[in-house]
Amino acid sequence: MTKLNLSSIKDRFVIEGKDYIFLCPSNKIYEGKGYQFLFDDDLDKQLAVFRRQGRLYCLSNICPHRHQDKIYDGIIDDMKISCPEHGWTYSLETGKNVNPLQGLRSLRKYEIIEKEGKIYIEYPKFDIPKWRENI
Ligand code: FES
Repeated sequence: MTKLNLSSIKDRFVIEGKDYIFLCPSNKIYEGKGYQFLFDDDLDKQLAVFRRQGRLYCLSNICPHRHQDKIYDGIIDDMKISCPEHGWTYSLETGKNVNPLQGLRSLRKYEIIEKEGKIYIEYPKFDIPKWRENI
């Protein structure tokens, strides 16, 4: 797991109105493996990053089925990722649930780009559970 503090990331830029922030060097993300990123030491702020057939994908790391933070450790099959807990399956490219028989909820997808040996993601908005709103 890589821990980052959103407010301390200084390497950032804007493309077409979208704010991108530095995530990690390109050589930290290997083909066919998932990586877990935690922001602000908040377990509800997590991303999963994958490189598949040379391209990068970034999704929420928290499965909407039982709120488990295991998407990074899922099984990659073709362009799909299956949660290792109970097998809900999502598109790597869109985060959409690809098996409506399992459930209808999807993963949030984030833009991710590689530039000059570095990986950047769009400034992430996280889905914070409703039960936390009153805390
Ligand atoms: S927690 Fe992911 S499928 Fe159940």
